[in-house]
Amino acid sequence: MKILLTGANGQLGRDLVDALREHELVKTTHQSFDVVDFDQVQRVVRECQPQAIINTAAFHKVDLCETEVLASFAVNAYGVRNLALAAREVDAKLVHFSTDYVFEGNVAVPRTESDPTNPISAYGVSKLAGEKLAAYLWRKSIVIRTCGLYGHAGSSGKGGNFVEMMLKKAANGDAIRVVDDQRLTPTSTRELARKVAELLPSGVSGLFHITANGDCTWFEFAREIFKIAGVKANLSPTTSEAFNSPARRPAYSVLDNTRLKSMGMDDLKDWRAALQEYLQERRQGG
Ligand SMILES: NC(=O)c1ccc[n+]([C@@H]2O[C@H](COP(=O)([O-])OP(=O)(O)OC[C@H]3O[C@@H](n4cnc5c(N)ncnc54)[C@H](OP(=O)(O)O)[C@@H]3O)[C@@H](O)[C@H]2O)c1
Repeated sequence: MKILLTGANGQLGRDLVDALREHELVKTTHQSFDVVDFDQVQRVVRECQPQAIINTAAFHKVDLCETEVLASFAVNAYGVRNLALAAREVDAKLVHFSTDYVFEGNVAVPRTESDPTNPISAYGVSKLAGEKLAAYLWRKSIVIRTCGLYGHAGSSGKGGNFVEMMLKKAANGDAIRVVDDQRLTPTSTRELARKVAELLPSGVSGLFHITANGDCTWFEFAREIFKIAGVKANLSPTTSEAFNSPARRPAYSVLDNTRLKSMGMDDLKDWRAALQEYLQERRQGG
């Protein structure tokens, strides 16, 4: 299959390159292909004639989205609209990624694809707008909501990933305070990319939740990182209130892979096992 990939040097993008190596992959980066530029998107997609477009591009500095609302909507909503229109024109599937932050997080039960959304941050609202645009503009869209991504390439948009950030702080001997009142499912981009490669050739469309299995708070995630890595860290729990971030975050944003389960495809690892694998690969050079 000929696939055009956006954000190919992002953390999910890099693992998708690996997982899709049997396909004819046209890798684009922010520099070479800006999803916000409607004319460029139309031209490149027409020239390329892909059978699928996979969009990992995002503006996802969650706190910055509160003030940079236009910029976040440009990438997370308008950019998705551009890709959906271009995909429709050449009859290509569109795979797009969304987030657990489309939920309010006030119900402590894993959220399914049919649960009502109610984002509480500008980032969440912009990502929900992107989901809706993809779904209404192009019936061959697959929207994948995921959560707490980490991968060897590190999130370029966030200047690293949580695992690397924790290990760096510990190496520096910093006092590390991590919120213990936000529950999520850390998900390895390696695992997510593997699932995308399995879903893509099937005829499915619509919304999917794809995360690792199990859940934890950010504090528990950090504690597990240090435990597996065998690193001594000055780690203590804190609260969202004490942290006082510009953007609100859901207290509970665990996703249930309901659709994958119904298709017999939810073989994603428990988050601890995936983390162990990541840290082992890291020791071996990534
Ligand atoms: N990271 C998480 O914890 C998390 C959680 C849930 C959902 N998601 C979603 O998962 C997807 C992948 O995230 P990720 O962690 O892999 O992010 P990432 O590492 O920051 O990768 C995003 C890529 O998109 C590129 N990009 C940004 N703006 C662009 C534009 N206007 N046109 C083209 N490319 C652009 C970035 O390039 P530059 O860096 O050069 O700008 C980067 O290569 C995103 O949709 C995100 O919203 C992420």
